[in-house]
This record gives sequence, C-alpha cells and structure tokens, in this order.
Amino acid sequence: MTEVSVKIPEQKAKSYPVIILEGLLNSAYDYITKYTKANKFLVVTNDVVNELWGEYFINDNTQFIVLPDGEIYKNIHCLNQILDKALEMKLERKDAIIALGGGVIGDMAGFAASIYQRGIDYIQVPTTLLSQVDSSVGGKVAVNHDLGKNMIGAFYQPKLVLADTNTINTLDERQLKTGLAEIIKYAFIEKSCGAKREYNLFEFLTKNRENIYKKDHKVLKELIKICVELKSIVVNQDEKENGLRAILNFGHTYAHAIEKLTDYEVYTHGEAVSIGMYMILELAKNINAISDEYYKKAISLLDSYKLISSAKEKFNPDEFYETMKSDKKVKDSKINFIIPTEEKMVEIRNNIDKNIVLSGIK
Ligand code: NAD
Ligand code: GLY
Repeated sequence: MTEVSVKIPEQKAKSYPVIILEGLLNSAYDYITKYTKANKFLVVTNDVVNELWGEYFINDNTQFIVLPDGEIYKNIHCLNQILDKALEMKLERKDAIIALGGGVIGDMAGFAASIYQRGIDYIQVPTTLLSQVDSSVGGKVAVNHDLGKNMIGAFYQPKLVLADTNTINTLDERQLKTGLAEIIKYAFIEKSCGAKREYNLFEFLTKNRENIYKKDHKVLKELIKICVELKSIVVNQDEKENGLRAILNFGHTYAHAIEKLTDYEVYTHGEAVSIGMYMILELAKNINAISDEYYKKAISLLDSYKLISSAKEKFNPDEFYETMKSDKKVKDSKINFIIPTEEKMVEIRNNIDKNIVLSGIK
C-alpha cells in the first residue's frame, strides 16, 4: 500500500491520507470508518461508474444518488439534486458524502459536502487517472456556470482519498490519455513545486510509456504517488491559490477557453489541457522564454504520448481572448500565464502582449 499525507498548515485537522492500492475498494469501508465518525453515507456517482464500481459501496447505512454522466452535468441543478437527496435521507452533520467517480463527480460532490449544513465530511474515491493524480487532492470543489468553468465553488479538503488502481482497468484509451495530459503537466512544472527531492517525472514518463499504456499497475502506482506528492507539496504552501498553486494550471489558461468555446462537449478536460500545453510551449518559444532545445524536448514528450496537439475548430481570436479574460484566474483584468522558463520550471506571468497570446491561437 502507498500512502501520501496531504498536510494543510492552516489547520492540523485538514491533513488527510491519499491511499493508493490495487483492489482497495474491496475494503473501502474499513478505511472510511477509520477516518470518519459517520453513521450514514451518501454515495454520489454517475450511471457509468455506478454500473462498474458502485457495488463496492452498497450497505445498510448507505444511499446513492446516481447522476447523468458528463461535464455538462457539472452544474447547479445536479448539485441541487445531491443536496435534495442529503436532506431527504436526513444526513446529519457527522455523516459523510462519498464521491465515487472522476473529476466531475469529485468536484461536485465535494462542493455539496462543503455547503450541506455548513460542511460535512467527504471522501474522494477517484476512478479516473485524471482524478487520481489531480482533482481528488487539494480541495478545489466546484460546479460550472453558463458564464464560466468551476465558477461556483470552494476550497474544501476531503477527509480521505482512496485511489484504487483497478478502476483504471475499465478506462478507455481516451480517458487514459486525458489523465496522462495532467500527469505530463507535472513533468513540466516539477522543479517549481518546491520538492526537497527530485522525482525526475519527465524521465520516468520518457522511459515508461509502453508500460503506462499497458496499464502496468506498479508503474501506475508510482506515477500516481509522484503526482500526488508534487501536488500536496504545492497545496501545502498555497492552499487557496494566492500564488504558487497557479503553476498547477500549466496549459489551463488556454484549455479552459477551449472547453468553454466548445460547450464542454468536444474535448475532455485533459484533451483541452494537452492542446493548451502545446500552445503555451509555442508561446514560450515565441517570446524566447525557453531554448529551442527544451522546446523540442518538451514537444517530443507530448508527441510521444500521442496526445491531441491542436483544436480542429477555427476560433475567433478576439472571442478566444475575451473568454480567457472571463476565467476566474484573471486578476485586475490581467490573464495569468504559466510560462515554461527552463527544463521542468515555470513562472507565473500576467504581462504577455495580447498579439503574442493570439499568435498561438490557430
Ligand atoms: P469525468 O469525471 O467526466 O470522467 C471521465 C469519463 O470517464 C466519464 O464518462 C466517466 O463516467 C468515466 N469514468 C469514470 N471512472 C471510470 C472508470 N473507472 N471506468 C470507465 N469509465 C469511467 O472526467 P475526469 O477527467 O475524471 O475529470 C475532469 C473534471 O475534473 C473536470 O470537470 C475538471 O474541471 C475537473 N478537475 C478538477 C481539478 C481539481 O483540482 N478539483 C483538477 C483537474 C480537473
Ligand atoms: N488542478 C489545479 C489545482 O488543483 O489547483
């Protein structure tokens, strides 16, 4: 078993373990009851995940709410359904919500937990690679609004994260690649995270591509552990994204605009992040922030994973720019860009000329 402890300095009680293990769901409640005092549980999931993994959570003290699948359902109406269900089953303050699914369910169920009776415990059970390496850790919970992604939300840490690598067995290649995009993101920012040791994630990804695509569990567990450790090191320094945490949004400034302009229906989050990483590397090359050598090396890592490199739509550059400006990461009307500066390092900049930004939008 691999365990990573996520420590949030402001409150000791906000530390929690991320447990990574193949077959973990067989004893999910053994862990859950160790970390919560709940008498009753509400499992929030969607129809796809429920069919595949829901049975591990059936017991006398648990009820389910099964939502429709998809990013378009990460909205206030589904959030309301979760709250209705919690009220209907008379969930009390010490009871808990279990978020069983990918990032959509995790973000939405976590947000419901943060506002139900001013906050009850929740447990993240991430079932996609993306949610195991990223969204289940760090406490960003939200739903989308018509006017922007994740616009309604909170910072609210889970009590426990249970990542069973067996759930990756049922992911298709598209969803695997979606998770890989967020993993590669960590490789580009590793040295800026403030870790005391080197993980050499870039090299790990270069060496292990075949095994990752074969879903070799030993390799997957190591990969998840590295990403969760890096994320927890960042979140430990800046839980509420006042500064450093923004580096986790490498590639996301473009990605969120792409998702929004395509109504969240064309690209998965990871696909949009992948396109966004290609775009930000191009931008970094154009403003001479990185050497040609590093640019080629970075692109070749992305290419080697056969991630999606550009959007097929022809975006209107002005509309694209305005969409980026409506993101919640904008401060004083300035768009934050996470710019690569050298190997595995990035810096946050908000002074990039609009024309240069638009030159990357094809
Ligand atoms: P998702 O939750 O939509 O899951 C992707 C698809 O895989 C869905 O169709 C889902 O039903 C299916 N699925 C889930 N588990 C499965 C399994 N084990 N086997 C087969 N199919 C399975 O998407 P995602 O990529 O997990 O997460 C994306 C979301 O996460 C976005 O909304 C994004 O904004 C959010 N996110 C949040 C954070 C954060 O820090 N909170 C970080 C990154 C992304
Ligand atoms: N995925 C970005 C963050 O957690 O801050």
